[in-house]
Amino acid sequence: MTSLSQIRAEAEKCTACPLYKHATQTVFGEGPARARIVLVGEQPGDQEDLAGKPFVGPAGQILNRALDDADIERTKAYITNAVKHFKFAPRGKRRIHSKPNAVEIKICHQWVSRELDAIEPDVVVALGATAAQSLMGKAMPIGKNRGHELTWADGRRGIVTVHPSYLLRIPDEESKAREYHAFVRDLKLAAKLAAK
Ligand code: URA
Repeated sequence: MTSLSQIRAEAEKCTACPLYKHATQTVFGEGPARARIVLVGEQPGDQEDLAGKPFVGPAGQILNRALDDADIERTKAYITNAVKHFKFAPRGKRRIHSKPNAVEIKICHQWVSRELDAIEPDVVVALGATAAQSLMGKAMPIGKNRGHELTWADGRRGIVTVHPSYLLRIPDEESKAREYHAFVRDLKLAAKLAAK
C-alpha cells in the first residue's frame, strides 16, 4: 500500500491530461490519513489553485460553516477533489472556472481512488455532480440520490449531496436557507454512517 504522502508526490507531477499546463499546481487532498469521512469536491478554484489546498475560497467558507453545524470537525475529515488541477478560461485578468469534462474526470479518478485506498474511510461524501460522476463512474442525478446511503462503484459506502458553491449562487434568502439546511442534514447523515 502506498502512503498518502507518496501518492501526493506522484500527483504533483501528473501530466495525464492537459489541465496541468495552465494550473499553478496540483491541489491534492488534505486531512488525516486515518479520517473516517472523506469529502470529495469538484476541482480547485482560483484561490485553491494559488494556495495549493482544497476548499479555502468562498465555497470552503460555507463548507466550514456547514461542517460545524453538522458537528463534523473539518480537521478530522479528509477533503479532496475529483479533479486535482484548476480548469479555467482566462477573461482579462480574471480566471473563470470551467467545469471538468467526462474525460478529465475519468483520467483524474486514479488519484481519488488511490487516496481512498490509502485512507479506507467509513463514508465517502460526493459534493456535487462531478464528484458523484467520478465515484460512480457515470453521471447520476443528485436530487434523486441524496438523503440516503449509497454504494459507490468501488463498493465503498457514501452519500451524495450538493456542491457548496451551489448554495452561494441561490439568490433568494429563503431558498438559500432551506438548501443550506438540507446540505447540513446530508452531512449529518454522513457523520452518522461514519459512527456506525
Ligand atoms: N470547489 C471545489 O470543488 N473544490 C475546491 O477545492 C474549491 C472549490
